Amino acid sequence: MLVTGKSILDAAHKGGYAVGAFNVNNMEILQAIIEAAEEERAPVIIQTSEGAIKYAGIDYLSTMVKLAASKATVPVALHLDHGTTYETIIKCMTNGWTSVMYDGSHHPLEENIAHTKAIVKIAHAAGISVEAELGRLSGVEDNISVSEKDAIYTNPEEAKIFVNETGVDSLAIAIGTAHGKYKGEPKLDFDRLKTIKEMLNMPIVLHGASGVPEESIKKAVSLGVNKINIDTDIRQAFTDGIKSVFEKKPEEFDPRKICGPAREMMKAVVKAKIRLFGCNGKV
Ligand code: G3H
Ligand code: 13P
Ligand code: ZN
Repeated sequence: MLVTGKSILDAAHKGGYAVGAFNVNNMEILQAIIEAAEEERAPVIIQTSEGAIKYAGIDYLSTMVKLAASKATVPVALHLDHGTTYETIIKCMTNGWTSVMYDGSHHPLEENIAHTKAIVKIAHAAGISVEAELGRLSGVEDNISVSEKDAIYTNPEEAKIFVNETGVDSLAIAIGTAHGKYKGEPKLDFDRLKTIKEMLNMPIVLHGASGVPEESIKKAVSLGVNKINIDTDIRQAFTDGIKSVFEKKPEEFDPRKICGPAREMMKAVVKAKIRLFGCNGKV
């Protein structure tokens, strides 16, 4: 069934586990995620970036996810990932998305607060949940100094002000993860996470979780992360699946025989993430 992001994340916050938020760009990715969530009896968040909407079309994505959610026996939220414009956010709100992220993390604090607050007002009036972001994720995967960290990572005092002023339902924080593939091993600032969770006592979101060591993910969940975003690991499984078909049979040309194995490989990745995040068996 299709539910709000807030209902899934409030339960995760109370229950002390994290829910997987997986990026979707086509039918095979969506089917892999839904089948994995069903088999693991896990709530799940299907998220679409602005790039996914541009690629597949808002009507295709909305129709596919609504169909998948209506058939599913686990709670499914449809979430906009990294919304940057009012236009995309309002379009998603009017096309059945049950949760939106407004990413104003590149703006100064006051501006981020003003935009986020305006979006929360509209979204909440329509019963739609809102995620926002404070701090910057990109390029922080390498070893950086304490002063650099303080400039880039989420400041707990600012986070408190941000949440009080905007009324967001969940907050994405920067503690050392980055989008895409890591060059070295990411080192997470767990003390910062612990402080933020204690001060905010609300659902916390971790972006850029592909490639983060399992022990770090487990620790982040134990310290209060409730939504974990995964895209790159699914992209990799899709591509590995397709490559393995052509390695065995270079002359293959039936799309079903090319995308089918890729779908199975993505499903296996999603199932493993769900178990790692601790949301299996929660439905
Ligand atoms: O955080 C970014 C997600 O991985 C989405 O990436 O904008 O290329 O769809 P995308
Ligand atoms: P990864 O691609 O690094 O898993 O990040 C996904 C993400 O944060 C989507 O918002
Ligand atoms: Zn992200």
